[in-house]
Amino acid sequence: MTTAGANEAVSGADLIETLSESEVAKIEAECAHLPDRQSAAIDALMIVQEHRGWVSDASLFAIARLLGMSAEALDAVATFYNRIYRQPVGRHVVMLCDSVSCYVMGADRLAEQVKAHFGIDFGETTPDGRFTLLPIVCLGACDHAPTMLVGEELVTDVEADRLDDIFARFE
Ligand code: FES
Repeated sequence: MTTAGANEAVSGADLIETLSESEVAKIEAECAHLPDRQSAAIDALMIVQEHRGWVSDASLFAIARLLGMSAEALDAVATFYNRIYRQPVGRHVVMLCDSVSCYVMGADRLAEQVKAHFGIDFGETTPDGRFTLLPIVCLGACDHAPTMLVGEELVTDVEADRLDDIFARFE
């Protein structure tokens, strides 16, 4: 996922910010295991996201500088990997699978039900900042479609009448 303006924004050198000592230490620890620093790109993005909740353009510049790669190349990695958030998200990200098995098992209808439950569309966050709703490709649990991720939890065989109970577990 990426913001619409990310490609223009990453050309702004004034966006560089300093990563925390903790973030740098964790990224360096990843680099130490890898043949080259750029191979740590996804890990570095995830580390910063764990600390900040998402990866801003400024953070992206700082990570790219630390890894010795261009911000454009790192942004391409972040865009390809759909669990890197390039705009602020809620405390819990709900990702609804929209691949074929889930589609066959009613993912479209489920998506409408989840949107109605939250009162938001894909790409939006509930007004209380609790949930962000996004689509995602196959989660690898096709035999239990339809599926979704809520934060790190995989929820399978999702039915509309379970939505209240499922989301109530996530404050
Ligand atoms: S298609 Fe949804 S989990 Fe595979």
